[in-house]
Amino acid sequence: MKCGIKANLKTKLTKLALGTWLMGGTKDPDPNNDDAKDISVIKTAIESGVTLIDTAQNYADGKCEELVGQAISSYPRDTIQVLTKQKKSHLSYKDVIEGCNASMKRLCVEYLDYFICHAPNTDFDLADFFKATNKLYKDGLIRNVGVSNFGVNALKIAVETSELPIALNQVCFSINDRDILTSGTYEFCLSHEIPIQAYRPILDIKKEKDSYDLLITIAAHMKLSPQQVLVAYLNSFDSVGFTIRASNNEHWQQIKDALNVKLTSSDTEALKKIHMTKAGVFGHLLEI
Ligand SMILES: NC(=O)c1ccc[n+]([C@@H]2O[C@H](COP(=O)([O-])OP(=O)(O)OC[C@H]3O[C@@H](n4cnc5c(N)ncnc54)[C@H](OP(=O)(O)O)[C@@H]3O)[C@@H](O)[C@H]2O)c1
Repeated sequence: MKCGIKANLKTKLTKLALGTWLMGGTKDPDPNNDDAKDISVIKTAIESGVTLIDTAQNYADGKCEELVGQAISSYPRDTIQVLTKQKKSHLSYKDVIEGCNASMKRLCVEYLDYFICHAPNTDFDLADFFKATNKLYKDGLIRNVGVSNFGVNALKIAVETSELPIALNQVCFSINDRDILTSGTYEFCLSHEIPIQAYRPILDIKKEKDSYDLLITIAAHMKLSPQQVLVAYLNSFDSVGFTIRASNNEHWQQIKDALNVKLTSSDTEALKKIHMTKAGVFGHLLEI
C-alpha cells in the first residue's frame, strides 16, 4: 500500500481537451504570431464547454503556456483544467521540480491540474520524474500526474514509482496509427485503469487513400463528416478521450455530436481492418 493518495484524486479527466500545438509558434516562438487569434481560439473552446487545455513546455519554447495563461485568466480557476508536459530532455528530479515551477509561472497559476512527462528518454532514470511529482503533489503544486508516449516498459516504472495513480497516457491514436494497439500499450492501460488521451486524432485524416475513402463512404450514408466518423470510430474503444486542436465552435459541436454516434458493427470492423494495417511514426517511443 502506498501513501493513500490514490483514493484522493481532485479531477476527473474530461473526454475532450483543447490541443495547443502551433499556438505561439512551432518549436520556437514565432515573432509574427497572431497572439490575439490563439487566445481567442482557446476562449472559443472554453465557451464551447472544453475546459481542459493541453499545452507543453516546449510548444513555442514556453510561449504557448504564456498564451494559455492569458486566455484562462478571464475565467474562475476552478472552472478550467490545465495540463502541461515536462520536456523529455529535462527529466532529472531537480529539472522536473524546476520545470513545474517555471510552467506555473508562465501559465500564471498556483497549481497544475495535470503535470505529465512528455515522452520517455533513455538518458534518464524515469523513476526520478515520478519521485519529483510525488513531492510536487505533496506540496500542493500539482493535482494529477500523467504520461505521454509511454509504452509498456515505461508504464511499468510509472505504476511502480508514482504514489498518485497515472491519470492519463497521451498517445498518438488515429485511423492511420495503430501503434498503441500492436505494442500492448492500450491493453496495459486498460488493465491498469489508465485513461488514454488520443493526440493527433484528426490531423492526418487524408494521409492514406484507403482509410480516407472508407471514412468518406461511411460519412455519406450516415450524413456526417469524415472527421465525425473518425472520432466516432476512435471513441468506440474503451477508455479513450481526445486532445484536439479545433479553432471554431462549429468544429467543437461536430466533435461533441460524433461522441454520441454509434457506428454499425460492420462499419466499425471495416475501419478496424484498415486501421490495423497502419504503422504510425511515434511507435519507437512506445518501445522505450
Ligand atoms: N504528447 C505528444 O507528444 C503530442 C504530439 C502531438 C500533438 N499533441 C497534442 O495533441 C493535440 C492535437 O493534435 P494536432 O493539433 O496535431 O492535430 P488534430 O487535433 O488531430 O488536428 C487538428 C486539425 O483538425 C481540424 N479539425 C478539428 N476539428 C475538426 C472538425 N470537427 N472537422 C474538421 N476538421 C477539424 C482543425 O481545423 P480547425 O483549426 O479549422 O478547427 C486542425 O486543422 C496538439 O495540439 C497537441 O496539444 C501531443
